[in-house]
This record gives sequence, structure tokens and C-alpha cells, in this order.
Amino acid sequence: MPQCVNNLPIFNLAIESSCDDFSCSILKKDDLKISIISNVVYSQDFIHGIYGGVVPELASRNHIKSAIPAVDAALLQADIKLKDINLISVTSGPGLAGSLLVGIMTAKTLSYALKVPIAAVNHIEGHIFSPFLKREEFFPFVALVISGGHSHIYIVKSHEDIRLVGKTRDDACGEAFDKISNFLNYGYPGGKIIDTLAEKGDINAFNFSMPMEHSNSFDLSFSGLKTQVISEINKLGGPKQLRETIVFDIFACLRETIAKILYKKVLAVCDYTGIKDVSISGGVSANSRIRSIFLESSKLNALFPEPAYSTDNAAMIGYTGFFKKNIDPSKNKKIFYNLNAEPAWEL
Ligand code: KG4
Ligand code: ZN
Repeated sequence: MPQCVNNLPIFNLAIESSCDDFSCSILKKDDLKISIISNVVYSQDFIHGIYGGVVPELASRNHIKSAIPAVDAALLQADIKLKDINLISVTSGPGLAGSLLVGIMTAKTLSYALKVPIAAVNHIEGHIFSPFLKREEFFPFVALVISGGHSHIYIVKSHEDIRLVGKTRDDACGEAFDKISNFLNYGYPGGKIIDTLAEKGDINAFNFSMPMEHSNSFDLSFSGLKTQVISEINKLGGPKQLRETIVFDIFACLRETIAKILYKKVLAVCDYTGIKDVSISGGVSANSRIRSIFLESSKLNALFPEPAYSTDNAAMIGYTGFFKKNIDPSKNKKIFYNLNAEPAWEL
């Protein structure tokens, strides 16, 4: 981790642009602690909502428009100047190539002009540590990352020792929420919409089976569940024929099934490893039923990020950037020039 020089704090400007949000955050590290002093997120939901999913080319073009205003807004909110920044952190993967490149080029330009180190951060690593943005960090823990592209379980023993133990074999759970919401014409992104409307439904109305419930592996799967839900809707006459109350029931049962299988798989990892602390992060971790099933459990200790830090944000990238080594471009030009988008970077 870069050290504070002469007891002066490190101001870290972080950029996240891996998908359809452009976020810039400023974090401060003094000898004792890391704090977030600003976090700006420019969402493009309203652009991609029309198409029912993210259009990569539109995402990168709109990031170009957001980049400088987001940096300016983050500096303004933090009440500091560019010259105060002494570290830059940026997401370099996984994600959409064009989107990542806009963030990386913004970060590299700032790093070059300000002559400050640049840390390349894995987006998933950012999510894993997001519950520690507002509480003290400790190890080991089990990490469940649930987002639009990920449903992954890791065992985390340190910042350098993160092991994947299970992942979805097909769709991510966020993808299942998004696709079912689209199918029923309830809008994109569907996770939050389904979460809200599920409150009005009956969790006993449908009996969706839990995917991979009886498998010995820690892997997950959500594509079959999506198909189950869609065939149930078709049996009832198709999306246009459904009464609103039936849609609410479907949403309640879908949310319940996803929450239960996630809990069950994570508990199996906890039982296997003896680890009780669990970080649950990524956009889907904002889900109220997923939160309650984990938080009410006496068998594990669930750690969630604040809802604002569940979905994509640069604060988690900055936090993780503090722990990167060999990031000074004046000492390691190769790292600086080789820093590129890594769309398929697996942890
Ligand atoms: O982490 P994230 O912001 O972006 C990715 O890295 O993918 O996650 C986005 C996903 C979307 O699938 C969205 O529908 C889902 O998070 N999401 C939710 C909720 N809020 C966002 N899913 C379930 N319940 C929510 N409350
Ligand atoms: Zn994410």
C-alpha cells in the first residue's frame, strides 16, 4: 500500500466505467484510516432501458461525455483540487472493452499529467471489499458477488489470496431478474423493479425449484430457473394475459427462490471451510429479501455494503487501489504503458 509521506494524507482519485455507469470517487487515507470523501455516479439506465439491456457502443460513447464532468464533480464534492491528488485507481477489467477504455484513458491521462501512481483494479475485487468501505477490514471471509454478470463465491484470506470456489454455470442472478422483467415488459434493469413489486406478492403462489440445490458443487445456475418462470408465464397465456397480482406473485416466488439458493450455497461453503463471516456485494446485494435471509441467519455473519455501494461505484475501486503494489509509473514504466482494458479478467 502506498505510504503517507511526512504524515500527509493520500488523496486517491478512483474511476469505474466497466459497464453503463461512469463513477468517480475521491478517498482519503491518513495513517489510521481510509475514508470516502466523494462519490459521483452518472447512470445511463435511462438510455439502455429503451433497449432492455446495455448497448456497449452507446455506453462507451456516453462515458466519453461523462468522464470530465464526473471528475470535476467528485473534486468539487470533496472540496479539493486536482493538484492534491497523489494516487489514481481505475477499473481495468472485467467489463465492456470500450467502456473500460474510456475510464482507463482518463486515469492514465491524469496519472501522466499529475505524475502520480496509477493502480489497476479488478472490478470484482472492488465489489468483494465494498462492505469494508465503512467498517474495519478483517480476514478470512467468504465473498458472494452477485451482479448483472457475476454470481461468484470466493474464499478471501488477504488482498493477494482470493480463491474462486463456485460460480454460475450460465446466467448471473442479476441477469435472470433483468431478463424476466424484460419478458414481462416491466423495464430495465429489472432487479430493483422486481424487488419492489415482490413485496405485494405471495411467496407460496408458485413452486419454482431451486437450481443445483442437490449438487455437491458450490456452483450456481440461473438459466433453468429463468426458463421455468417463462414457461409458467406462457402456460398462463403469455405476458399480455397476466393479471398484475399474478405478476407480483411470480416476482415474489422468483426473488424467494434466488435468495434461498444463494443462502444455501454460501452456507455450504461456510460449513466446509469453518468461516462464518460473509461479504455479500454487487448490484443484486441491494435486494431486500437477499439481505434479510442472510442478516437473520444465526449460522453466519453477513456483511453488506451500504445500498449506495452495492451497485457499481468508484469508491470500492479506490479502496482496493490503496492495496496495490508496484504502481509508481516513474519506477515502473512498463506497468503504466501496459495498463490496458482486460474485458475477461478472472480473479
Ligand atoms: O454490480 P452492478 O451495478 O453492475 C454489474 O457489475 O453488473 O449490478 C447490476 C445488477 C442488475 O442486474 C440489476 O438488476 C441488479 O444488479 N440489481 C438488483 C437490485 N438492484 C440492482 N437485483 C435485485 N434486487 C435489487 N434491489
Ligand atoms: Zn459490478
